[in-house]
Amino acid sequence: MRDVKTARRKRRARLEQRMSGRIPKAPGRTLDPARRLRGLVDQEEDAPAQGRQSFANDVSARLGPRGRFLAAAIFIGALITGADIFWERYSNQTAVSADHTNAAQVGLGHSLYDQHCAFCHGADLAGKQGWDGEFPDGGRPAVPLDGTAPIWRLSDRDIFDVVKFGGQPFSPASYRNEMPAFETALADADIWAILAFIKSRWPEATHTRQKEATDESG
Ligand code: HEC
Repeated sequence: MRDVKTARRKRRARLEQRMSGRIPKAPGRTLDPARRLRGLVDQEEDAPAQGRQSFANDVSARLGPRGRFLAAAIFIGALITGADIFWERYSNQTAVSADHTNAAQVGLGHSLYDQHCAFCHGADLAGKQGWDGEFPDGGRPAVPLDGTAPIWRLSDRDIFDVVKFGGQPFSPASYRNEMPAFETALADADIWAILAFIKSRWPEATHTRQKEATDESG
């Protein structure tokens, strides 16, 4: 603060000195030109000090109208993106069906599939070799989920149930079904997401066959 005052005083003195020779003292004028100058200098010094008062004003002034518009647009864009991500997460966590056209649900399903299913069913959903042999007592290797095996005979709800409760409850007691249950490992919405991912890998013909097969059986 002291520095500002000293600088101001010095500057005023310099100005007074420079101007004193030029402004003739009008006869009868009471206003001392030095005092007028002092007023001008004080005004000049005060103006930028006021601008510095608030950081926001300063930034806003620096940005200019276009900059302000851009800044507002970026801010609003960030808000919308945040809301969108939140909504996607929320709707994925509360899903009660599989939508293979929903990229967010399919994306979540893909990562969950890799963690929980790829080990047996293959990262490419192709299942294990020899799955299509005869296994009257059970012990069938993991079947393909990509549509090459007749998975289309099951409705979405049936597939969901097999994943949630395992294969055994839906098999004869004498048959050993080795599809494990995921009831404790996965939330319902996670299972729907995995199903959305699996269905996103089906050829169109498999979608059509599933519709026909499951519509017929009611
Ligand atoms: C430990 C190995 C293993 C894991 C892990 C596993 N499965 Fe399976 N799954 C099997 C086997 C084996 C079968 C075939 C059972 C049979 O037909 O006897 C099967 C069958 C299925 C079926 C029935 C297919 C049909 O056409 O009948 C579905 C659907 C399925 N699995 C989905 C999944 C999903 C989704 C995951 C991950 C959440 C998963 N499986 C994880 C071994 C596994």
